[in-house]
Amino acid sequence: TGFSVAVAGATGAVGQMMIRVLEERDFPVREIKFLASERSVGKKLKFKGEEIPVQKLDHDSFKGVEIALFSAGGDRSKTYAPSAAKAGATVIDNSSAWRMDPDVPLIVPEVNPHAVKEASKKGIIANPNCSTIQMVVVLKPLYDYSKIKRIVVSTYQAVSGTGLKAIRELEEQVLMWTDRRRREGENVAPKASSGMSYGYVGEYEYNAYPHQIAFNCLPHIDVFQENGYTKEEMKMVNETRKILEDPDIMVSATCVRVPVFYSHSEAVNIEFEKKVGAEKARDILSKASGVKVVDNPEKFQYPLALVAEDQDLTLVGRIRDDISNPNGLDLWIVADNIRKGAATNAVQIAELLV
Ligand code: A2P
Repeated sequence: TGFSVAVAGATGAVGQMMIRVLEERDFPVREIKFLASERSVGKKLKFKGEEIPVQKLDHDSFKGVEIALFSAGGDRSKTYAPSAAKAGATVIDNSSAWRMDPDVPLIVPEVNPHAVKEASKKGIIANPNCSTIQMVVVLKPLYDYSKIKRIVVSTYQAVSGTGLKAIRELEEQVLMWTDRRRREGENVAPKASSGMSYGYVGEYEYNAYPHQIAFNCLPHIDVFQENGYTKEEMKMVNETRKILEDPDIMVSATCVRVPVFYSHSEAVNIEFEKKVGAEKARDILSKASGVKVVDNPEKFQYPLALVAEDQDLTLVGRIRDDISNPNGLDLWIVADNIRKGAATNAVQIAELLV
């Protein structure tokens, strides 16, 4: 009993977490297949104690597969997801390749589980962008109380969203800086006199980002668009509208990469059609599924990236009335981008198919 499952991109940051979440949630698996690039053929990955060899992702990888979880990059999704669907699998795709296709549902199970019935159109279901998922999980129960007119959001996104190479890049840069500081000794003034920035790590061959990520903030995620926003920012606009099924919501986003390994944080300002108020919002959110209110500023308790890491819940705090707008509300939302922002949400979608 159970399903025949394939994980495409099984060796990546999200793919490995998908495997862990399938195990943790005891998803009914009869058979499992791990797919990645040619580079990984020969590697073995564990599933429930059993060592399973990684195979090369190809058009004929999906014979007999019923559920295919994809996280091998957008190009691979575009190329191979239709083959998987043609072989009879339902694809759950973590890339942005299919998200805005009108025949592909875009699902956050706490928000729009009913959309799963659209899956049969193309055999593909899209997993939303990590920053969008954690935002709509919190916004939906509030939206059900009062329609939302406008959202202004700034994100503080972890490097793990870029993949394993970006995690290594941040690690290496931090170690380079630490090495240099040790060599210089304690009596160097906290501000370098040489005209060099205090946090500068020295010559580094960038791979994941165009600038140093350690001790820095990069207001640049994904590629720039003609309108001046980045693609990541426009994903937050378009995906929020699609998931909440309200094309009129106005969204303006600024997405920033910060030197954090796991968990995205977001400052969100919401303008409602009618007043919700901080107290009512706290009450609604304390009953919302998938959400945990952490909001006790006097005790220095608010959502933190280091605390959200490795949890499936989306944390919300700093819930307060917007002093500049009677119908406004401000929130701070944090979730593990690899779990709820990717792997957990994908496995929850698979659970809708069971
Ligand atoms: P591989 O490990 O063999 O390169 P991340 O986002 O953490 O970098 O992970 C990307 C995932 O996508 C990895 O599992 C990677 O496999 C996989 N992948 C990348 N390029 C290809 C490709 N051309 N064919 C199949 N899988 C790929």
